[in-house]
Amino acid sequence: SANNPWTGFQIFLSPYYANEVAAAAKQITDPTLSSKAASVANIPTFTWLDSVAKIPDLGTYLASASALGKSTGTKQLVQIVIYDLPDRNCAAKASNGEFSIANNGQANYENYIDQIVAQIQQFPDVRVVAVIEPDSLANLVTNLNVQKCANAKTTYLASVNYALTNLAKVGVYMYMDAGHAGWLGWPANLSPAAQLFTQVWQNAGKSPFIKGLATNVANYNALQAASPDPITQGNPNYDEIHYINALAPLLQQAGWDATFIVDQGRSGVQNIRQQWGDWCNIKGAGFGTRPTTNTGSQFIDSIVWVKPGGESDGTSNSSSPRYDSTCSLPDAAQPAPEAGTWFQAYFQTLVSAANPPL
Ligand code: BGC
Repeated sequence: SANNPWTGFQIFLSPYYANEVAAAAKQITDPTLSSKAASVANIPTFTWLDSVAKIPDLGTYLASASALGKSTGTKQLVQIVIYDLPDRNCAAKASNGEFSIANNGQANYENYIDQIVAQIQQFPDVRVVAVIEPDSLANLVTNLNVQKCANAKTTYLASVNYALTNLAKVGVYMYMDAGHAGWLGWPANLSPAAQLFTQVWQNAGKSPFIKGLATNVANYNALQAASPDPITQGNPNYDEIHYINALAPLLQQAGWDATFIVDQGRSGVQNIRQQWGDWCNIKGAGFGTRPTTNTGSQFIDSIVWVKPGGESDGTSNSSSPRYDSTCSLPDAAQPAPEAGTWFQAYFQTLVSAANPPL
């Protein structure tokens, strides 16, 4: 549709991910598997700006995307994840970030956003789509019993507001992270979630650039499961389409015609978890449905790959300061490196178990 930010644009491939994939493919000796692996570099993912140090890369990508758009005549769209809140990842440990609330975190975060805005405004011909802060608002819906989340609440809200209002000024299309079916999709969580998201949207001035919500980011749920995975334990919203169909009308009732994007990057194989809440490097996962705007749903702008498949969810090394015991569960692939770093064995499984196949 005309309102779909992807319409009329070609997605710029993240050079960072393409390099990771090319290096990984070279390490695979089986030639068939290696060429399948190499082909993943052509599938668009999101670039995670998970620290201030990554922001100059964004400037480089925007410049390349702008030049490519001019030379090919096809306008380019750059996909990013805004992910640097102070006291980030308040209910888990694996992805703790660089800023803390106690140590000037909110001001540091505003500076992080300002630097991103400064890059983006130099390239008005490049469209930017952003996922806003995975897990943060969802944690405020269900995890205020965790001290770190309760303590972070006002800072998360103020910081997300800062991100939304300032990125809207430079025309970034945004989707706030909304967890997944097995988190906010439980019937008791839907209304509180809808209330929080609409409030955040209202407080940010109801900008048309705040398109809606992103679901299943870095998770493993199917968009449409053939049948409910037993771990979904009777939740009527046992996959992402049921979750989205339940949440969208609640947002509409509050006046927000929100649309969704859904991560399917690692959702190719179903029924591989022991608990629905398990999230760390799930064994047996395969790459999933390719990114497409042909989603079959009026509510979904695009199926996307947000988590760059092959990057770890968290370390299984119990002596690391970011060790989260979830990464040592029986359904977590081990040994696993630090969150965000390359996990070669895991990538190889994603490739060989890809569905549809590569
Ligand atoms: C990590 C980030 C990383 C992202 C994508 C997160 O779990 O904390 O550092 O950029 O995953 O791999």
